Amino acid sequence: MSNFPSDKPVLVTCGLPYANGKCHIGHLRTYVPGDIFVRSLKKQGQEVTFVCGSDAHGTPIVVNAEELKITPTDLVNKYHKHFDSIFKAMEVEFSIFGNTDSPTNHSRTESIVNALIDRGYVYPQVIRLAYCPHDERFLPDRYVEGICPYCGKPARGDECDQGCGKHLEPGEIKNAKCRICGNPAQYREQEHFFFKLSSFGNFLSDYLKTLGGTANAINYAKIWAKELKDWCITRNLEWGVRFPGHDDLVVYVWVDAPIGYISFTEEWANNTGGDWEKYWRGDSRIIHFIGEDITYHHCIFWPAMLKGAGYTPPWAVVASGMLKIDDKKFSKSRGYVVWVDEDYLDHGFHPDLLRYYIANYTSHTKELNFSWKVFQDKVNNELVGALGNFLHRTQHFTHKNFGNIPDGRVDQEILDKIKATLETVILAFDEYEFKKATDAMMELAQYGNAYFQSFEPWALIKKDKDACARVLLNCLQIGKALILLFEPILPGNMEKAWKQLGLPGDVHTARFEDALIEIPAGELRVPEILFTKIEDKKIKEMEAILDKRTKIALSKEKKHEAKERKTEITYEEFQELDIRIGKIISAENIKGSDKLLKLEVDIGEKRQIVAGIAQSHNASELVGKQVVVIANMKPAKLFGVESRGMVLAADVEGAVLLMPEKEVKEGTRVR
Ligand code: 2FM
Ligand code: ZN
Repeated sequence: MSNFPSDKPVLVTCGLPYANGKCHIGHLRTYVPGDIFVRSLKKQGQEVTFVCGSDAHGTPIVVNAEELKITPTDLVNKYHKHFDSIFKAMEVEFSIFGNTDSPTNHSRTESIVNALIDRGYVYPQVIRLAYCPHDERFLPDRYVEGICPYCGKPARGDECDQGCGKHLEPGEIKNAKCRICGNPAQYREQEHFFFKLSSFGNFLSDYLKTLGGTANAINYAKIWAKELKDWCITRNLEWGVRFPGHDDLVVYVWVDAPIGYISFTEEWANNTGGDWEKYWRGDSRIIHFIGEDITYHHCIFWPAMLKGAGYTPPWAVVASGMLKIDDKKFSKSRGYVVWVDEDYLDHGFHPDLLRYYIANYTSHTKELNFSWKVFQDKVNNELVGALGNFLHRTQHFTHKNFGNIPDGRVDQEILDKIKATLETVILAFDEYEFKKATDAMMELAQYGNAYFQSFEPWALIKKDKDACARVLLNCLQIGKALILLFEPILPGNMEKAWKQLGLPGDVHTARFEDALIEIPAGELRVPEILFTKIEDKKIKEMEAILDKRTKIALSKEKKHEAKERKTEITYEEFQELDIRIGKIISAENIKGSDKLLKLEVDIGEKRQIVAGIAQSHNASELVGKQVVVIANMKPAKLFGVESRGMVLAADVEGAVLLMPEKEVKEGTRVR
């Protein structure tokens, strides 16, 4: 028996993307299966609301906006539009795609936080927080970098992102440094507010016994629920939702972000005349699709917050495994990333192909590896070779030889096969096993191909036209079933296929069970090819793009490492540097360069040296000044002018020259 349709209101959500960067395939591991699931529910006659939106707050967005010299609002709006358009292009059809900075979310967050305060679940506590004396500010979350207190790896303020992955509470990070100026942070005391998560232990233990979804989420959550620490839910930031009664504090982004699920439902209800409370205050089924890295937030923190404020906690949490690119851990900084616009859609790949890959590569809870080669294999062998081939050959052959769908009854054996496939598919969807579901669909396509092949209609038509018509009718019935079954995965192409077969109504609202309604006799059109093979050349082109990106990233990383590396040297090594005091005898600008000056310097001998100080120093004012020179630099040519030495300066904007404390003889060694 399937879990659906249910007479309870059903709400499906997808984890909210941070409006802070472009959409990549890693994101789609949540949204595509979420959309497939919603379409599969609709195909079972289930009414369902599907909400998502941009996650607008949190320090990464503020840090990024500061670096780009734009407001957080502008940054969020830009990426909000980007995600919205990518989702539309990928046929991910939310009922609403909201934004957590909306007035509805501000007021719903305030109301929930007030409810938690009123019910005694929030308390103040003075804590030690990282503070930058140079920038005169507290350093919340990503504003501070240091060492993880649990595993000793480099970490950011709120998360050990390169080591054990633990969430870090404010003040926990060791060796804290300010991310803005790089200076060591101090610790200062300030009052913050904590959510009493620790008092939800019994509730969570019971709740997690009934929570549906995938085992990867629930099993971990059961362990975490045994050891709960209270959460600091306020931050010293301007950008975010104000903590009630405290103008200098906002709530932690993980408070107002999931509340977005509620406020987007409210906004959708306002737009459509629906009722949001039946989902969030009544007996409902709320199903969250998320990436497995945010399981803690959805299975522990969020249900406790909902329970504490008097709302309905989720019915299921479905967590996807993470993404790899070419068997390497997904990483934007290392170039292991496939952008959905520039690396996929802009190359003319149909969204359905990637949707199929994501659904069919592996079980939803396992790691998914994306490679262009596998993508090509799956498209060419499965979508073109099995499904596309079957739909095309049956329709093409029937059209050519009969002109229409033959009259008659479909064999019981065929209807039984379709029914069995339907049951497998529905059960697989019930378990969020998209691979199992799509494998069963593809198996039906293979069955159809084998059936067609075994009757040799091209020979049969010459011997027994009626028998041939019956075989083709059976094939067309299988075709109809395949179109309905595959619609959640391949909505664009199955819409086309549905129309081509001349079937009535809208494939998107038709039901799975319609697959058993016998296909009516009627006119047939010449079928168009749905899927075409991807050539090796195209795949090579795509691989080269990825390859180039990872190489550029690697060389950047090496340069960065070299810059960061402050290797210790011995006194002997230092001695190898010939550093001397010199006096500038003449200075002039170099034609064609606004940065360089040509200097003549007396370092006990005369030397011509080119220095990049033209923007900060006037040539004429330098004459007669003593400077510090590295005399044994390898000679180099700059703008065609030879330089034999280097003048030392402090590395700040508008170079500041180093000079001896008092005048000494030219050529004096510096030790
Ligand atoms: O991890 C993330 O990308 C978050 N923006 C997800 C938020 S989901 C929800 F809780 F709001
Ligand atoms: Zn750690």
